[in-house]
Amino acid sequence: MLAFSRRQPLRPEINNINALIEGFEAVLRRACPEPIELEMALDPRPLAANIDSAQFETALLNLIVNARDAMPKGGSVRISTGRKKLGAAEAKAMSELPPGDYVTVGVADTGEGMAPEVVSRVFEPFFTTKEVGKGSGLGLSQVYGFVTQSGGHVAIDSKPGAGTTVTLYLPAAPAVAAGRSASDPHATTTPPVGRILIVEDDPEVLDVTVEMLRTLGWEVLTAPDAPSGLSVLRRDADIDVLFSDIVMPRGMNGVELAREARRLRPELRVLLASGYPASALPAGNGAGEEDEFPFLSKPYRASELARKLRAMQPRVRTR
Ligand SMILES: Nc1ncnc2c1ncn2[C@@H]1O[C@H](COP(=O)(O)OP(=O)(O)OP(=O)(O)O)[C@@H](O)[C@H]1O
Ligand SMILES: [Mg+2]
Repeated sequence: MLAFSRRQPLRPEINNINALIEGFEAVLRRACPEPIELEMALDPRPLAANIDSAQFETALLNLIVNARDAMPKGGSVRISTGRKKLGAAEAKAMSELPPGDYVTVGVADTGEGMAPEVVSRVFEPFFTTKEVGKGSGLGLSQVYGFVTQSGGHVAIDSKPGAGTTVTLYLPAAPAVAAGRSASDPHATTTPPVGRILIVEDDPEVLDVTVEMLRTLGWEVLTAPDAPSGLSVLRRDADIDVLFSDIVMPRGMNGVELAREARRLRPELRVLLASGYPASALPAGNGAGEEDEFPFLSKPYRASELARKLRAMQPRVRTR
């Protein structure tokens, strides 16, 4: 399900893999409810790779969902990153990769594992062992397609009863080019239009919104609820726009978040969104006459979101 929604050509850019994973952590955590534990073991060094970030996130989510499904009684899944130099022989054994430096991303679960006959077929499109309606068999084919198109390799280590580790090998880009570098020919030349914090409790809506905003050129941060949104705002003074859902769990709605955020950062631009009619929303929602905050009703198109944001005149950044 998560896999095939996007089959566009890849849009590779130099990305810091750790930063991508951290930015996507909220979505990954929502995909792993109790009793599954998600652990992060990210290499402290910057790890740069020339990849399509949206496809990378989709691949990671596909791996996490597979790990979750393999642990119906709970367990732990660990995301690790690292760097590995592959020598000629080792590289040749991995889909005939050229030798060199690779960024590794591992997803290890303590789930039921797979028999060798299953392992040998997992990348086939539509191969699934899940019940009808539970799996379409496209998750790992998306992972495989993305990684091989990016010049990398997917390794699977699995045994029945002993869990599964999937490791992605992605060609490393020079570390200096992490983030966006003008000297790198693959990096986009346009600077981000600004930094935007999205606060949204529905992981799928969040995922789609993140992609929309990245496509529109924004640098995106996310939070799954109002209290964590606030702590991101406290930590990061460089956010231009807060884009928040209104109806959210954990004792604070989007309007309250927006007011608190404005108190904290008076110059912050705020946009609220909701799928509920204005009459059902907390007062001051922005959908009414005396707008406290600009409002967008869900579902919206990318073009409407772009128009709203343009109307709010985000500061053009020069970095
Ligand atoms: N972490 C894992 N542990 C155990 N088995 C796994 C794991 N990951 C994948 N598999 C096996 O590989 C099969 C194919 O995985 P794939 O992600 O391609 O499809 P799916 O999960 O069945 O469906 P979809 O991802 O499209 O919802 C799964 O049905 C399962 O049998
Ligand atoms: Mg899957």
